Amino acid sequence: MSVEKTLVLLKPCTVQRALIGEVISRFEKKGLRIVGLKFMQLDDAILTEHYAHLAERPFFPGLKESMMVTPVVALALEGIDAIEVVRQMAGATNGRKAQPGTIRGDYSMSGQQNIVHASDGPESAEVELRRFFREGEIFDWVNPLHRSLYATDEC
Ligand code: PPS
Repeated sequence: MSVEKTLVLLKPCTVQRALIGEVISRFEKKGLRIVGLKFMQLDDAILTEHYAHLAERPFFPGLKESMMVTPVVALALEGIDAIEVVRQMAGATNGRKAQPGTIRGDYSMSGQQNIVHASDGPESAEVELRRFFREGEIFDWVNPLHRSLYATDEC
């Protein structure tokens, strides 16, 4: 159990379908703290780096293309075990297979147009937060509701 920060991207499909507010609201209601938030237009260079592990997959060019259609929303979220919590909330990669109640399960019918990207572990969260947020763009603000979110022995 440790306080973690994780990166979420709201994909262009989410922007086009006017689901930005709804998806951010889910994270807020869960109790995750938004510590970074911005709209950004991605280019081929950053996407080639971000999806380098998928470079050999046939869908790589199409995936990158789909991520440049509109700006994306980059979110830095913080909370105890935030990386795993956010992955659980996102659901399985393919929206058709994701459980109802998860973000992809509720809003997506696709493996590519699957609403959000979420870091999959502590190493990738660190690298991805640095990739999408510059120094000074992540804020350590005090949440007065902290004691309503966690037990004393949890934080
Ligand atoms: S996979 O299939 O094992 O590579 O799945 P995963 O590693 O979870 O997926 C990584 C990202 O690839 C996207 N993806 C696809 N894009 C286009 N077409 C197909 N068929 C496809 N399958 C997976 C998926 O949306 C993941 O994007 P991110 O941004 O990481 O969520």
